[in-house]
Amino acid sequence: MAPPLCSRVLERFLVMFVLIFIRANASDPPLTLDYYKSTCPRVLDIVRREMECAVFSDPRNAAIIVRLHMHDCFVQGCDGSVLLDDTITLKSEKKAAQNNHSLRGFKIMDRIKLMVESECPGVVSCADILTIAARDAVILVGGPYWDVPLGRKDARTANYELANANLPGANEGLVSIIAKFINQGLSVTDMVALSGAHTIGMARCESFRARLYGDLELTSEKSPMAESYINSLRSACPAFGFSSNNNVSALDYVTPNLFDNSYYQLLVRGQGLLNSDQEMYSSLLGIETRHLVQKYAEDPLEFFKQFAESMVKMGNITNYDSLVSGEVRKNCRFINSLSHSEE
Ligand code: HEM
Ligand SMILES: *[C@@H]1O[C@H](CO)[C@@H](O)[C@H](O)[C@H]1NC(C)=O
Ligand SMILES: *[C@@H]1O[C@H](CO)[C@@H](O)[C@H](O)[C@H]1NC(C)=O
Ligand SMILES: *[C@@H]1O[C@H](CO)[C@@H](O)[C@H](O)[C@H]1NC(C)=O
Repeated sequence: MAPPLCSRVLERFLVMFVLIFIRANASDPPLTLDYYKSTCPRVLDIVRREMECAVFSDPRNAAIIVRLHMHDCFVQGCDGSVLLDDTITLKSEKKAAQNNHSLRGFKIMDRIKLMVESECPGVVSCADILTIAARDAVILVGGPYWDVPLGRKDARTANYELANANLPGANEGLVSIIAKFINQGLSVTDMVALSGAHTIGMARCESFRARLYGDLELTSEKSPMAESYINSLRSACPAFGFSSNNNVSALDYVTPNLFDNSYYQLLVRGQGLLNSDQEMYSSLLGIETRHLVQKYAEDPLEFFKQFAESMVKMGNITNYDSLVSGEVRKNCRFINSLSHSEE
C-alpha cells in the first residue's frame, strides 16, 4: 500500500492530467471539412448515393432525416445518441415525448452505416453520417448546399430525461421554445431559420389537434388559423378518437416535398400547421421573429443562406464527453461492447 501523501500527489496529478486533456480537446476546433480525407475518402459519395435512393423512393425521407439530425443535436450534442436502442443498461431517447411514435429514419441510417462500414470499417461515426445525410436530404428536395464539418464521435450514453427536457413541442409557448434554442447556443435567428425545415415533411394529428378544437393542451396563446384551412384539417384529424392520432398532414401543404420558402409565406397567411410555427408570426411576443418570418417569406435566397449557416451551427453542438470517451460505433443502434468501457 502506498503512503497517503503519495497517493494524494498521484491523485492530483491524475486530475491535472484529465483537466488538461479535456481542455486541449475543448479549445481545438474539433470539426474539419477533410476529416476523412485519407481514412474514408469516398464517404460523402456513399452517403449521397444512399440518400438519393431513400429520397427518390419517398421524398418524405428527406424530412425524416433532417428531423432525426435535429433531435440528435439537441440532446447532449450531435453524438448519435438518438440512434441508440433500449438495452438492459441503456434507456434510449426514442420514447421521449417528442420522439415516441414520431421520430423515424433509423432503418435508413442502418443502411447508410452498413455501406460506409463495408468500405471503411470502424472509421466514420454515426453522428457524422447523420449530419452528412441531413445536408444531402435538403439538397435532394431542392434546398441549399453547405459544406459539412466532420469529426464527431458517437456517445456511449443516451439521455431520455434530457430528450424530454430539450426538444421543443408543438404546443409550447414561443418564449419557452426560444429558451431551448438559446440553451443550445443558437439564436432567435437560428430558430426562425431552422424552423424553415418545416417546409418539408408531415406532422401527426396529435401534434396539431389542440389547435383545431380548443386550447386545452396549449401552454401558450392559441394562434389564429385561417378558417378554410382549419376545416380541411379537421377531416383528417377528428376531435375525438385515438385512431386518428397518427394520421398525417403536410407542414407545408403547398409544396410538401420541396425545400422552398413557402412555409414562411403560409405563416404570413395564418396557415402554419403547428401552433409553434404560427406563433413566430402572430404572437404579441413574436415581434423579432415576425420580422424574420416576413423577411424569409419575401426573400428565398436570404432564407437559404441563413438556413445553411444555422445548420452548420446546429451541427456544431458538441458533446465534450464524447470527444474524450466517445467512439465510432460499429452499429448505430448499440455502443461498442467490452474493452472500451474498462477505463
Ligand atoms: C422551433 C421548434 C420546433 C418545434 C416545436 C417542432 C415540432 C415539430 C413537430 C411537433 C413535428 C411533427 C411531429 C409528428 O407529429 O410526428 C415536427 C416535424 C418536423 N420537424 Fe420540427 N420542430 C421544431 C424545429 C425543427 C427544426 C429546428 C428542424 C430541423 C432543422 C425541424 C425539422 C422537422 C421536420 C423535417 C419535420 C417533418 C418530419 C417528418 O416528416 O417525419 N423541426 N416538428
Ligand atoms: C464550432 O465549435 C467550436 C468550439 O467547439 C468553435 O471554435 C467554432 O467556432 C464553432 N464553429 C461554428 C461554425 O460555429
Ligand atoms: C410511448 O408510446 C407507447 C405506446 O403507445 C406508450 O405505451 C408509452 O407510454 C409511450 N411512452 C412514453 C414514455 O410516453
Ligand atoms: C385520416 O385522414 C383521412 C383524410 O385524409 C380521413 O378520411 C380518415 O378518416 C382519417 N382517419 C381517421 C382514423 O380519422
